[in-house]
Amino acid sequence: MSRRTCRAFTSRPVPDGVIRTILAVARQAPSGGNLQPWHVHVLAGERMSAFKALIAAKLPAQPEGEGSEYPIYPPNLKEPYRSRRFKCGEDLYRTIGVERNDRPARLAQFARNYQFFGAPMALFFSIDRAMGPDQWADVGMFMQNVMLLITEHGLDSCPQEAWAVWHKTLGEFLPLPPERMLFCGMAVGHRDASAPINGLQTDRAPLEEFVTWVE
Ligand SMILES: Cc1cc2nc3c(=O)[nH]c(=O)nc-3n(C[C@H](O)[C@H](O)[C@H](O)COP(=O)(O)O)c2cc1C
Repeated sequence: MSRRTCRAFTSRPVPDGVIRTILAVARQAPSGGNLQPWHVHVLAGERMSAFKALIAAKLPAQPEGEGSEYPIYPPNLKEPYRSRRFKCGEDLYRTIGVERNDRPARLAQFARNYQFFGAPMALFFSIDRAMGPDQWADVGMFMQNVMLLITEHGLDSCPQEAWAVWHKTLGEFLPLPPERMLFCGMAVGHRDASAPINGLQTDRAPLEEFVTWVE
C-alpha cells in the first residue's frame, strides 16, 4: 500500500550496496521453468549525467523519440481501460494545476521522464528477443519485487515505459546486445516530499469489476 509511483526525487544518492541487496532478493521472483528471463542495467553517477545530456540534446528535434519496438498500449484502447488511462492523466495533471488544454505544460511535465524526474539512479529492464508473453510476465513479477523492496528500503521508484521510445540511443549507450529488447526503465531515489506531483494517489477498480467467484 505504501509503494507509489514517484515523479519528483531529491538528488540524494542511492548506495550501490543497497540496490545490489535489492536485486539479490528480487531475483527470488518466480518464473515459468525458472528461466529468470530478466536482465538489469544499473545507471548512476557520471554515466547517468552523460546519458541525460545526450537525451536532452536530442529531445527538442525528436519530442516523441525514436518510436518504440513494441506497442506501449494497444491501438484504439477500449473501455474500461481507456477511461482509466484518461482519469490517471487528469488526476496527475491536476496535482500540478495543469489544465486539460494546456498541451505545452503537459508535454513539459511528460518530458521530465527523460531526466528520470531528478532521480540519482536508474534501472533498465531488458529481455531476450527469443522470449514470448509468458516471459514478459515473468519480468513484470521481477520488477514488482524490485519496486516493493525499494519501498521496504525507504526509497522510491518510478517505472518508466517512456524510455521505450529511446531504445536505439539507450541500446547504443549502455550498450544492450542486439539479442535483447528494452522493456522498461525505472527511476530510483528518495521522494521529494514537498513536490505536489507526489501527492497523486491513484485509485483501483472494486473487486466486483475484476473478480469472478466460481463456487
Ligand atoms: C510497466 C510500467 C510502465 C510505466 N511507465 C511510466 C512512465 O513512463 N512514466 C510515468 O510517469 N509513469 C509510468 N508508470 C506508472 C503508472 O502510471 C502507475 O503505476 C499507475 O498510474 C498507478 O499508480 P501507482 O504506481 O502510483 O500506484 C508505469 C507503470 C508501469 C507498471
